[in-house]
Amino acid sequence: MAGDEKFASIIGSEQAEPANIVIFGASGDLSKRKLLPALAHMHRWNLLGPHSRIIGAVREDWTKSHWINYVHDQLLQYFPDAILNPHSWQRISHKLDLVNGDLNDPEMYKQLAKTLHTEDGKKNALFYLAIPPSWYECVAKNLKAAGLADEADGFRRIVVEKPFGMDLDSAQNLNEALQHYFDESQIYRIDHYLGKESVQNLMVFRFANSVLEPLWNRNFIDHVQISVSESLGIGYRAGYYDSSGALKDMIQSHLLQVLTLVAMEPPLTLNADDVRDEKMKVLRAIRRIKPEEIDQIAVKAQYSAGNADGVDIPAYRDEKGVADDSSTETFAAVKFHVDNWRWQGVPFLLRTGKALPDRVSEICIRFTTPPQTLFDLHDGNVRNNELIFRLQPDEGMLLSMTAKQPGLSTDLRGVHLDASYGMAGSGMPEAYETLFHDVLLGEAGLFSRADEVEESWRIIAPIMKAWAEQKDIVTYPAGSMEIPGMDELMHDCEGSWRDLSSKHA
Ligand code: BG6
Repeated sequence: MAGDEKFASIIGSEQAEPANIVIFGASGDLSKRKLLPALAHMHRWNLLGPHSRIIGAVREDWTKSHWINYVHDQLLQYFPDAILNPHSWQRISHKLDLVNGDLNDPEMYKQLAKTLHTEDGKKNALFYLAIPPSWYECVAKNLKAAGLADEADGFRRIVVEKPFGMDLDSAQNLNEALQHYFDESQIYRIDHYLGKESVQNLMVFRFANSVLEPLWNRNFIDHVQISVSESLGIGYRAGYYDSSGALKDMIQSHLLQVLTLVAMEPPLTLNADDVRDEKMKVLRAIRRIKPEEIDQIAVKAQYSAGNADGVDIPAYRDEKGVADDSSTETFAAVKFHVDNWRWQGVPFLLRTGKALPDRVSEICIRFTTPPQTLFDLHDGNVRNNELIFRLQPDEGMLLSMTAKQPGLSTDLRGVHLDASYGMAGSGMPEAYETLFHDVLLGEAGLFSRADEVEESWRIIAPIMKAWAEQKDIVTYPAGSMEIPGMDELMHDCEGSWRDLSSKHA
């Protein structure tokens, strides 16, 4: 299979209608690291409709040629393949356009309305808000005032990034504000975890195979672990991170979304709202945490100085922009329960942190031990059966089983049935490509609905409240997994936390 065909078979070869892709905050970090490379990649594989435009909306007083040079330089750094071929770069550069001005100046939106390109009588537009959430309302309002929310002459979709609010009230306010100017069906709330290949595969794996369903419940599953471990510290993001922390930054959004996909019932159809209805039922079934139980179900910690993956990392409190007495958690682990028929009594353990030993994200479904003990199952490297969905690196699935050691003895050994995508030898789209592609096609299944976001805030609100009152925080050396209290969360589970280091797949 040629490279192009392989790629098309993964991402789906449907080409979107021509559209104006407008990036607010086009000169920012997200744009250069993720959005521009994703669009260039899609362009290369012909997934953007012909005559589409990529329009930067920036505050800077840039000319169009400055913008074109800027995109060139960013792609050279983040996706050099896109421009090393002069023909390819020439085709991309012809798609670029620019508007500039203040986000709260109506003139900029009038200029934008004139810049939008019309194709086949349609002026489709996707507005990507890669700007701080405090600007969302202002931009939505101005777009509406300029007639740019109105779909009479083509689709108009608005894409917003996380964080979506910093608590339930702010998320509700934001939803109300956006819904005032755009219909809910036009609003796409990004959770880039849902664009990851293995996360999408989780649904396929669960609902396109019949062998799993009989096992996918409290009778056979002891517990579920969802882990996102990052080896980097917070880098230059103190401004945002110090008022957020691991619980809000990762658990409220990405990890709870992944939990819903593991726990949901089969949806009636793959229609976005059917899927989101089922995810919403899971969120509603998550047991609310009582303040007095906080220390039994949640652990927080902050990194002290250390070395992760060969890089020296200062103590979190010594990072630039972090207060000397900050009690923001850079690690959080929470044990949730889903109170419904399928999952009663099965803990869902979610953990995430910065400055940990490795960059690994995975879902581990740990099955119960067999009811009769004929073999010593906890000898050596043998353990309960586990189904692992590896989100990164080495995306794929792994089923760990127990087998006999070859030879005359009856010793046991762990074996893996390994279906890593890397072994399939195909290039995979980045999460942002998948998500752009879906917005352009109007498929909203991989985006969070307003009620899901609000319910997630409701779930973590009691933890936020309890932790806000605790000014002390325990520490772990950067580059280690020595998190005080983490193991105790597993006291009622079979086995221990998965070792996330790549050596221990
Ligand atoms: C972002 C968080 O949403 O996800 C970051 O704000 C985090 O703090 C990032 O580093 C992790 O994403 P990924 O795809 O690298 O696992």
